[in-house]
Amino acid sequence: MPINFDHTPVLLAPMAGITDLPFRNVVLKFGAALVVSEMIASQELVQDCKCRRSRAELGLQVDRTAVQIAGREAYWMAECARLVAGQGAQIIDINMGCPAKKVTNGLSGSALMRQPDHALELVKAVVDAVDVPVTLKMRLGWDDAQLNAPEIARRAEEVGVKMITVHGRTRCQFYKGQANWRAIQKVKNAVSIPVIANGDILDHVSARTALAHSGADGVMVGRGAQGAPWQLAQISDSLCGENTQKALYGNALCDLVIEHYEAMISFYGPELGMRCARKHLGWYLQPLRNGAEIRALVIRELDPAKVIRELRAGLVESTRLAA
Ligand SMILES: Cc1cc2nc3c(=O)[nH]c(=O)nc-3n(C[C@H](O)[C@H](O)[C@H](O)COP(=O)(O)O)c2cc1C
Repeated sequence: MPINFDHTPVLLAPMAGITDLPFRNVVLKFGAALVVSEMIASQELVQDCKCRRSRAELGLQVDRTAVQIAGREAYWMAECARLVAGQGAQIIDINMGCPAKKVTNGLSGSALMRQPDHALELVKAVVDAVDVPVTLKMRLGWDDAQLNAPEIARRAEEVGVKMITVHGRTRCQFYKGQANWRAIQKVKNAVSIPVIANGDILDHVSARTALAHSGADGVMVGRGAQGAPWQLAQISDSLCGENTQKALYGNALCDLVIEHYEAMISFYGPELGMRCARKHLGWYLQPLRNGAEIRALVIRELDPAKVIRELRAGLVESTRLAA
């Protein structure tokens, strides 16, 4: 494999607290070209041998899964990459896009874009540490005065990075405004490796526009997949000219939600699993005519078996509100 767009150019974005192993497995069933683990702090992973769930969460042996690592120091990033590649990771993705203050204050994530020389040392250290492909996810730059994504992408390709994903916003925009897909074109023009457009791609219409504006080789979908993991299949079918996967409701939605819910309970255990599942249930239920009714029955329930019973009873009858 490991980065293969033969069947689809649609990828799932990493989202901490959302795209965990159970959710990624659901999305993979809808045919994503690649899913990316939630970011993992490189130094912590190397030093803390006890974080077993974190390691399981990385999906080290799962096909079409990239493990995303974050950090500030080349040494820990390289060590972490070596460790996870040694345990089966097929692709290592470097986080150079996270805007969160607790990450950028530690000078990781998008803060690396302010120090391109240092960032490139770190990227090179990771590439040199492993035999598997290394990819890079970043923003357009730190702010409008420093739109250096094309320059960093070019240098990253020179040191051996195999794919670049660009979220079409600057760090200082956080998630505000509209992603600028046209600005991603400058990155595409600067490199010959695949470039993936990201930001505000919610459906096949926005995916087509993002590709047309950016000239990118594929799209990465984040928030658009929340409560709608089939969205990646819809986009993929539309781009590949096939009959489009429909949004799920009724029995098909019921089976999907219960499978996802059971996977979360078994992965996290009942207590944490129920807590982690609530936001996903909220997203699945929100567009349904009877969604608020089902939500009221399950959201505070403490027994997973009862939640599953209520979901089954409510979801088989479900229809979607008009878009
Ligand atoms: C809750 C949340 C968590 C995120 N966590 C990560 C992360 O761990 N690593 C990363 O590179 N980007 C992370 N992102 C950014 C997304 O991968 C993506 O770039 C961004 O949401 C824009 O894409 P979208 O409009 O399709 O959601 C996160 C975004 C959200 C909303």
